[in-house]
Amino acid sequence: MLHAGTEELVAYTHAPSPRTQDLIGRESSVLAHNYHPLPVVVKKARAQWVWDVDGTKYLDCLAAYSALNFGHQHPALVRAVKKQLRTLSLTSRAVHNDQLGPFAEELTALVGQDMVLPMNTGAEAVETAVKIARAWGYRVKEVPSNRAHIIVANNNFHGRTLGIVSFSTDPDARDDFGPYLPGFTAVPYGDADALRQAITKDTVAVLLEPIQGEAGIVIPPADYLPEVRRITAENNVLFIADEIQSGLGRTGATLQVQNVGVQPDMVIMGKALGGGLLPVSAVAGRADVMGVIHPGQHGSTFGGNPLAAAVGRAVVKLLEPGSLQASAKELGRVMRERLESMGPRGVVGIRQEGLWAGVDIDPELATGREVAEALVGRGVLTKDTHGSTLRFAPPLIVTERDVHFAMDQLEGALGDVAAFRSH
Ligand SMILES: Cc1ncc(COP(=O)(O)O)c(C=O)c1O
Repeated sequence: MLHAGTEELVAYTHAPSPRTQDLIGRESSVLAHNYHPLPVVVKKARAQWVWDVDGTKYLDCLAAYSALNFGHQHPALVRAVKKQLRTLSLTSRAVHNDQLGPFAEELTALVGQDMVLPMNTGAEAVETAVKIARAWGYRVKEVPSNRAHIIVANNNFHGRTLGIVSFSTDPDARDDFGPYLPGFTAVPYGDADALRQAITKDTVAVLLEPIQGEAGIVIPPADYLPEVRRITAENNVLFIADEIQSGLGRTGATLQVQNVGVQPDMVIMGKALGGGLLPVSAVAGRADVMGVIHPGQHGSTFGGNPLAAAVGRAVVKLLEPGSLQASAKELGRVMRERLESMGPRGVVGIRQEGLWAGVDIDPELATGREVAEALVGRGVLTKDTHGSTLRFAPPLIVTERDVHFAMDQLEGALGDVAAFRSH
């Protein structure tokens, strides 16, 4: 919903400098409009802070959609990349490299799986898991050729390739990109009965986000994922958890499935696996499932390159002690308490796990975008999703003081918007 006077509101809460306006104007004539960024041109960043071209400092409360769980330029990660860069950056998989095997060993140990298939972006890793599930269906479950069926959830977000948008239910992501890949059924998220009823003899997998990120940090009922695990096991169907956004510490655990005591057959990771320095993704899974892939059937020139593996190893090392996960849990409680006190200021819904919150703003007051823009004027970067929802996902290295700063500014921004609307 767009309110009358949106432009005036933006000017009231945050007026971009002439320099920023000029840079954005020039960019928009030569860059495809596949995103709608906030009017900020970032020039440098360190830890949880970023600076724009005018030198204004912001607290990063989006963390590149959780790719920056460890903050910008984390010293241990930068060190790992620099060291590796000096010795070996790329081999392709035509030969072995001395980083990839140890990375696979360390990552499987961290997430409790047997084998890893490395890729680069999240969407590629999702495609990888879908291919493995289909191959497993034909070669192990003995589903008839070309009949493999996969169940997904309504309002899913798994990326933007043609295969993935084929099972998206979001018209923006899907419309005008057909013809679509067949073999998928979408069921309501959080409804285990609907999922059970959608299973056929040809169903090979269920693919779910343990918390739906892009949908607005949608958390399913507590018994949903355990129930899905039971149903899939009973029906000889693989359970694939897409932890690309929810994983690697964000929710107060290494994986969100661990928070609910569930062991999937495959888990998909990306974003923070590259430490905010490189695109690194991976599918980790059971040996008998991952084992269906043979040479020539899947791969990527850059997947598993030594540089990516070195940064992935450094990421695993940061997560091994569990302190970042514990901090995400603890600071998540602080954030929650503050958000719960903001009802009178226009917060009408909160969905939160660890340092990941979807905050619904009263649509009568403002859109999520308007509040995000007001927050830019107050030194906090975050992003709206779907209408009146704002999300907060700061790097896990933030302090309690930073969380209070972000929440103070949110209160202030809601006040700014209310003041504008009432005059
Ligand atoms: C749950 C989930 N899966 C997959 C993706 C796609 O990842 P990428 O943008 O790296 O392709 C995203 C990105 O937001 C995501 O949140």
